[in-house]
Amino acid sequence: MHQGRTTLSKFLIQQLKGSPEQNDLAALLVDIAAAVKAISAMTAKGELGGVLGSLDSTNVQGETQKKLDVMSNTAFINTFSMGGLVAGLASEENDDPVEIDPQDGTGRFLAIFDPLDGSSNIDVNVSVGSIFSVLRAPQGRSPTTEDFLRPGRQQLAAGYAIYGPSTMFVLTVGKGTHGFTLDREVGNFILTHPHMEVPAETSEFAINASNERFWEPPVQRYVTECKNGKTDVRGRDFNMRWIASMVADIHRILMRGGVFMYPRDTKDKSKPGRLRLMYEANPMSFVIEQAGGIGSTGRHRIMDLQPSEIHQRVPVIIGSRNEVERIERYHLEYDRGEDEQYKSPLFQERSLFAS
Ligand code: F6P
Repeated sequence: MHQGRTTLSKFLIQQLKGSPEQNDLAALLVDIAAAVKAISAMTAKGELGGVLGSLDSTNVQGETQKKLDVMSNTAFINTFSMGGLVAGLASEENDDPVEIDPQDGTGRFLAIFDPLDGSSNIDVNVSVGSIFSVLRAPQGRSPTTEDFLRPGRQQLAAGYAIYGPSTMFVLTVGKGTHGFTLDREVGNFILTHPHMEVPAETSEFAINASNERFWEPPVQRYVTECKNGKTDVRGRDFNMRWIASMVADIHRILMRGGVFMYPRDTKDKSKPGRLRLMYEANPMSFVIEQAGGIGSTGRHRIMDLQPSEIHQRVPVIIGSRNEVERIERYHLEYDRGEDEQYKSPLFQERSLFAS
């Protein structure tokens, strides 16, 4: 019955044959898939597993931790600690990077992850996910925080798991983006979505519109034009979707196109965005770019940013190429003062430049 099906292991052996580093990377991705299976089983039990609800603790972001946040974090940390392939890890749920005891092996990788993304959705039984990113570890010494602070273009692998009606594992090692579906009876991930591609054209956008008054003018311009649909410059009607679970929103975009935005806003002036560079924006950009899309802040390619801290936040505009390029152009026109309707303060009368 299962003849001819490509399992995750078989796929990775084919994609990553060659150097010892590639072999180890394949083994690490199989380890990550094992943690994902454990988290999938926990989330699927829901209330029956006694895993819903919050704890009294908060993470470094000041967010209340859900029971499943902590359980998923433990599942990843145990997997990495026992696997002998990882020298250090950084997680949304840990304030600082954690070094794996060298006695457990001198791993050649650093793992960065969000163990359970979109966790506000857990208690209402809406899709959540895990996101991961893999970097090369320094050899011959213990990793430092600086070793983690590398631009996203240096990622060796990245991906996510989505715990939805089915559990899927989507990954890239820089050779396209590929999706696997968990066959629960057998316990294997099966290649079901090889070479995923984000359509360049789309009529769907995803943004938390309740923040509209806090957005920068270029984003307001883009969303207004989409909402105006046929009656305005876009000449066609758009749909809006917002799941409030980045994994689920990005997964939809990977499957049928669209643009996901969590842009810079002025809601909390101390934060240049809501989403985190190292374990949300970078891995998702790698996945989307390997599928033909773009990951941008609106002004810069996300994967070219030099990180300054593990939990750094960035504006995120990811998805279909034509739409992201249009939004980047709107930022450029705004910054240059070329946009008549939405002029940058730098170019208005009595601005810095005029005075
Ligand atoms: O922390 C990240 C996250 O949960 C994302 O998964 C999601 O896209 C976003 O925050 C939801 O934000 P909001 O609650 O503002 O809709």
